[in-house]
Amino acid sequence: MKKLLVVLPIAVLFLACGHSRGPMANATIDSTSGSTAKGTVHFQDAGENGVEVVVDLTGVPPGVHGFHVHEKGDCGNNAQNAGGHFNPNGMVHGAPDAVSHHAGDFGNVTADDKGEVHTRFTTHSISINTGTNAVVGHAVVLHGNPDDLVSQPAGNAGPRIGCGVVTLANAVASVNGPTMFPARRTT
Ligand code: CU
Ligand code: ZN
Repeated sequence: MKKLLVVLPIAVLFLACGHSRGPMANATIDSTSGSTAKGTVHFQDAGENGVEVVVDLTGVPPGVHGFHVHEKGDCGNNAQNAGGHFNPNGMVHGAPDAVSHHAGDFGNVTADDKGEVHTRFTTHSISINTGTNAVVGHAVVLHGNPDDLVSQPAGNAGPRIGCGVVTLANAVASVNGPTMFPARRTT
């Protein structure tokens, strides 16, 4: 009986949080020339918790790779068109938990020995589609080398091996505010 009293309020809280989740966005990562990296990056507004980012990639050389949101929503010219790091607040480059860092500084992701990345984290540095830190319309870039989290202006992370433009996934839900129902897929 005691156990039930503990579990029940937690279950109710969990459901309530589910209903308050707001807009979401996606980026489909495609490989640049000579790379096989591809996959998806999913962004979910999580209210007071910020934005949850879920990363699933394959074909990535095993090891540590710089991973950022870049300024321009253009992956052309082997992702060079994406420009520098998304930096709406004029900060210097740094680790995601450093005092100063670009809004787009996600730090690094690590590919396992199968060349896969499966990770998730939450950040308060970006929003989905509101305000100056909105991630929609920018590009997610995966690099060939680690971001050293110190070098300016971009962590010396080497070549751009994957890139995807962030697009809004549930425009209707975001206009009408939080909804109980998932966005409808037409495909
Ligand atoms: Cu980058
Ligand atoms: Zn940066």
